[in-house]
Formats: sequence, structure tokens, C-alpha cells
Amino acid sequence: MPQADTNTEKPICMRDALTIARIVRVNHAGEFGAIRIYSAQILVSGWFWPDCVPTLSDMLEDEQRHCTLFRDAMPVRRSRPCRIMQFWSYGGWMLGFLTALLGRQGIWACTAAVEATVHRHLDDQLHFLKGRDPELSDIILSIRDEEIAHLQHAEELLVSRSLASRLLGTVISMATDSLIWLSTWGDSTRMARALKS
Ligand SMILES: [Fe+2]
Ligand SMILES: [Fe+2]
Repeated sequence: MPQADTNTEKPICMRDALTIARIVRVNHAGEFGAIRIYSAQILVSGWFWPDCVPTLSDMLEDEQRHCTLFRDAMPVRRSRPCRIMQFWSYGGWMLGFLTALLGRQGIWACTAAVEATVHRHLDDQLHFLKGRDPELSDIILSIRDEEIAHLQHAEELLVSRSLASRLLGTVISMATDSLIWLSTWGDSTRMARALKS
């Protein structure tokens, strides 16, 4: 079981342990969703935009490693893969496939929107985990730099700031937020509120 931070010696209550289990679950599901997005984008890019394949392949490799880290962190926290894994799987694949069909700008608009949403949730989680699960905090910190690099890379390549591109980004952010909310049974709102306060 995760240990309480020795600096604060704050015991972990049942409610917090449940939230921690949900954090691991949603992060594992999110990484799996990202794997599916990049896999579909690599498939389509191989047909139409081969110059995007090396970057997408590097990102896919990162997401596969992240997914394994969260999967390995599950048992000790009494967490299991998400029950709506199919949504992450098929939703991620469809999102990657359709945005890649739109072209390079569709790919980078999708990556920027997803990674920005993920980044915001990771910050909420890190704040919540402080003094509660330092080991999980360290795992999240270890992947955060790579997630930021994905976001920055996508933003650099996203030259189109048209209304359609911004609308696509907003829709993807809202869909990702909703899936995260559903997978954490609303705990993502609790974490965001804790950070704001
Ligand atoms: Fe990731
Ligand atoms: Fe990422």
C-alpha cells in the first residue's frame, strides 16, 4: 500500500485511498487511449503523410512506457483497469483515425488538445497526491516532462489557428475531460477544486 509522506505523517483515509486507486486507473486508461490515438494516426500517416510517422512513433513509444508504469502501480493500490476501457480504446482509435484523415494539422490539433487536457489533470493529481502517495507522485513526475514535450511539439507544428482548428481542439478537450470524469467517478472535479482552493 502507498505510504503516507513521512514529512507530514498524514494517514491515508479510505476516501483518499479510493481516489488514489481512481487516479491510477484513469491514468492507465488515458495512456491506453493515447496509444490507440497514435497507432491510428501512424496507420493513416503511413498512407498520406509519411513525414509525420517518426514523431508519432516516438510519442507512441513514450505512451506505451507510461501505460506499463501505471499498470504496474495498480495492484498495490487495489486498482484495476477501467470498466469503460472500450470507450478509451475505440474512442481513441476513431479520434486518431479521423483527425489524421483531416491532414497534418488535424493530427497536431488533436495531439495539442489531448496533451493539454492531460497536463492539466496531472497537475491536479500531483497536488492531491502530495503527502498522500509520494511513490505515485514520482511516477507522474517522471512522465510529465515527456507529456509536456508532446504538447510543445504539437503546438510548434500546429500552424493553423483557424476557427475550425480551434473548434476541433475544444471538442476533443471536452470529450477527454468527460472520459476522465467518468473514469474517476467525478473525482477529477474534486482534485481540480482542491488545487484551486
Ligand atoms: Fe503518456
Ligand atoms: Fe503524451
